[in-house]
Amino acid sequence: MRKPLIAGNWKMHKNSTKAVETAIRLVDLIPAGTTQHDIMIAPPFTALSQVYEIIKSTCVSLGAQNLYWEKKGAFTGEISSEMLASTGCKYVIIGHSERRQYFGETDETVNKKINAAICADLIPILCVGESAQERESEKTFSVLDKQIKNGLDNCSGDFLKTLVLAYEPVWAIGTGKTATTEQAQEVHQFLRSLIEKIFGNQLAKSIRILYGGSVKPDNIKNIMVMPDIDGVLVGGASLDSDTFYNIINFNA
Ligand code: PGA
Repeated sequence: MRKPLIAGNWKMHKNSTKAVETAIRLVDLIPAGTTQHDIMIAPPFTALSQVYEIIKSTCVSLGAQNLYWEKKGAFTGEISSEMLASTGCKYVIIGHSERRQYFGETDETVNKKINAAICADLIPILCVGESAQERESEKTFSVLDKQIKNGLDNCSGDFLKTLVLAYEPVWAIGTGKTATTEQAQEVHQFLRSLIEKIFGNQLAKSIRILYGGSVKPDNIKNIMVMPDIDGVLVGGASLDSDTFYNIINFNA
């Protein structure tokens, strides 16, 4: 049985004061002992420690939006997996399409980051997804196949047992366009069978595959009924805790 994960990615929004206010509001809204889903928020690096202080004894977990794969050294501006773990992070988002698009991330760097995350006991959320052009030219499955195979190259199923995947069609991120639930389910099913082919049935059955791209309170229910969708990665709609709570609480 896969426990759904509802994850919020705050991207480059909120200074520390705003981040703390948002976290306090979220914790106030979520009844103590909620265990129906796992919940995660990923503030910017600068607010991780302060947000952790707010959520540490609640059911909300902390996530980071990126990491660097080296343990330490002369890598100005980078943050290692151990540094993230020391702030209280449990999850880390890896290979988000904005990082691939604006910061030159490749499947090869994604692969190094996945390894670094798991070695530091962080749960990686590996983001994959096709562009509008790739979908139009019917390359969706080949693009995803390559992102998964190269991103997880040389890893074993046992090593990857905590891995979370997030299918985020690039054309649906921040655009207000959501994949239809059928489109999303088709891709999630494809990803699960790909994981089965590469890593075996056990990982395929247990791996959580999130959907991301313009998830909102009014479309979450339809998304979550799909059998291969095990949660969501929410950008814009996670910035306001009341809105995010309506997503978390979709089956109320
Ligand atoms: P969005 O972002 O919900 O604002 O579309 C999703 C994401 O980038 O993870």
